[in-house]
Amino acid sequence: MKALPTLFENNKKWASEIWESNPEFFSRLVAQQAPEYLWIGCSDSRVPANEIVGLLPGELFVHRNVGNLVIHTDMNCLSVLQYAVDMLMIKHVIVCGHYGCGGIKAAMEDQPHGLVDNWLRNIRDIHHRHQEKLEILSEPERLRKLCELNAIEQVINVGNTTIIQDAWGRGQRIAIHGWIYDIADGLLRDLNVCITSRRELDTLQKKI
Ligand code: CO
Repeated sequence: MKALPTLFENNKKWASEIWESNPEFFSRLVAQQAPEYLWIGCSDSRVPANEIVGLLPGELFVHRNVGNLVIHTDMNCLSVLQYAVDMLMIKHVIVCGHYGCGGIKAAMEDQPHGLVDNWLRNIRDIHHRHQEKLEILSEPERLRKLCELNAIEQVINVGNTTIIQDAWGRGQRIAIHGWIYDIADGLLRDLNVCITSRRELDTLQKKI
C-alpha cells in the first residue's frame, strides 16, 4: 500500500523551501534545540501550536492532549515538563485552552463517550468546583467559561508540580501563563493569570 503520498510531497516541498531561504537552518537544529517556551495545548487539529504564535521548529517545546490537561499522575505530561524545565531550561510555560473545545463540550454532556470519559473526568471535576458561577450562564457562555476555567486550573496544576516547585525553590525563573485561543477568529487572549512564584500561585489559587 502506498503510504499517504500527498503528505510526503508536502514534506519535500516544505523542506526545500526552507533549504532555499536558509541553507543552514537544519544543520543548526541538529546541533541543538534551545526553545524558551513550553506549550501545553489541546490535541485539536484547529489549534496548531507553532503556527498560532509564529514560531519555527526549534523555538517551541510542545505537549498536547485532549483538553490541555496537566494531571499529577500523567507521566507523559510530567516528563515533558521535567525535560523542558530541567534540561532545556525554558523560561515560560504556556497553557493554552481554546474556545469550542470538543473535550470540554463532551465533559459537559451526560451521554457516555467510552474510555475518554476517564480522562474527561478531570474536567467534570472542574465543572463541579465552579458550579455556582457556571450555572447562571447560558449554555454557549458556560462552555466558553469552562474552557477558560480549565486553562486556569491547569496553570495552577503546573505550578503545583514538584518540577516547578523545585525549580522555583532553587531560584530558577519560570513564568506560567494561561491563554485561550479562539478558533473562530484565530486570535489568542491572555487570561491574565501569569504566575512566577509560590506566592503568586497561592494568590491565584485563592482567587479562582
Ligand atoms: Co480542545
